[in-house]
Amino acid sequence: MTDLVIISLAVVLCFVLSSQLDLSELMAMFFKRHEAWQLDEWLLSFFVFSIGLCWFAFRRNAETNTALRERIEAEQKVAELLRQNRDLSQALIRVQEDERRALARDLHDEFGQNCTAIRTDANYIFHARADDSAGVLASAKRIDHAAQTLHALCRDMLGRLRPPVLDSLGLHAAVQELCETWEEQTGVACFFFPEEFSVPVGDDVAVTCYRLIQEALTNVTRHADAHKVRIDLSATSDHRAVKLHIEDDGCGMAEPEGSALGLGIVGMRERVAALHGEIKLKHAPGSGLSIEVILPLTKAKA
Ligand SMILES: Nc1ncnc2c1ncn2[C@@H]1O[C@H](COP(=O)(O)OP(=O)(O)OP(=O)(O)O)[C@@H](O)[C@H]1O
Ligand SMILES: [Mg+2]
Repeated sequence: MTDLVIISLAVVLCFVLSSQLDLSELMAMFFKRHEAWQLDEWLLSFFVFSIGLCWFAFRRNAETNTALRERIEAEQKVAELLRQNRDLSQALIRVQEDERRALARDLHDEFGQNCTAIRTDANYIFHARADDSAGVLASAKRIDHAAQTLHALCRDMLGRLRPPVLDSLGLHAAVQELCETWEEQTGVACFFFPEEFSVPVGDDVAVTCYRLIQEALTNVTRHADAHKVRIDLSATSDHRAVKLHIEDDGCGMAEPEGSALGLGIVGMRERVAALHGEIKLKHAPGSGLSIEVILPLTKAKA
């Protein structure tokens, strides 16, 4: 606005001076005197030059505005990512605390109770009379039962901390077991199509694949209303990465991604990004959700 006022004032001042001094007439006489130099022809050229400068200024202004807009958008994206990161960290801490609390409760209630029962029965057997075989047998049975309960609890806890089958049987068997258990629990058909890898898969890639499938299946149970899920796990054609594809035939995501409040998908993205991989979610209302993941292969530790 200030620029406009200054330019307008300059134009008016120029007009007043020109009309006072008869500037055009003086210039015309000057040009006529030096006709041999063709000075009057320069006027038009300077006019074109000034239009060129105006166009240049306009272009620079437009480019600066675009760059500024892109910068603001990038800053907003960074702020959003930071917010998601903060939320994720808080959720991770919360989940960790919940898990610890649950483990502590199980240790206290189940382990404590069963250990006390075993000690009581062992004590009974220790002090039992020689002719009390029925009592000793009952105590032994109770000890056996308590030991079985403890064993089951221990397996459950280990499974929560880290799926043991991942270490013992490998990724394919672990996912197969996960699918079968999930299918049994939910009644939704789960088809797993694994392809053998020609190179060993590193532990971080294996755990990430397993956790991604776990979260995807949990989401299908909670949100998809699906009849079947298909999981493909293979290597890319150059054998440098793992390709994971999870697809359901449910209702698809209603909300555009990012507007949802949950942290499961954000967590999936974080896990994939941590291994320098790529994740794509393809969804449309009514046509299910398809998740495609590429994870570069890391060397398996010997
Ligand atoms: N397979 C799916 N089918 C339909 N909608 C889905 C599916 N998976 C995710 N969604 C939608 O995406 C949203 C975000 O999922 P996300 O896993 O991030 O969060 P959540 O499952 O709601 O909560 P949590 O943080 O416990 O995982 C869900 O609220 C749901 O609306
Ligand atoms: Mg979820």
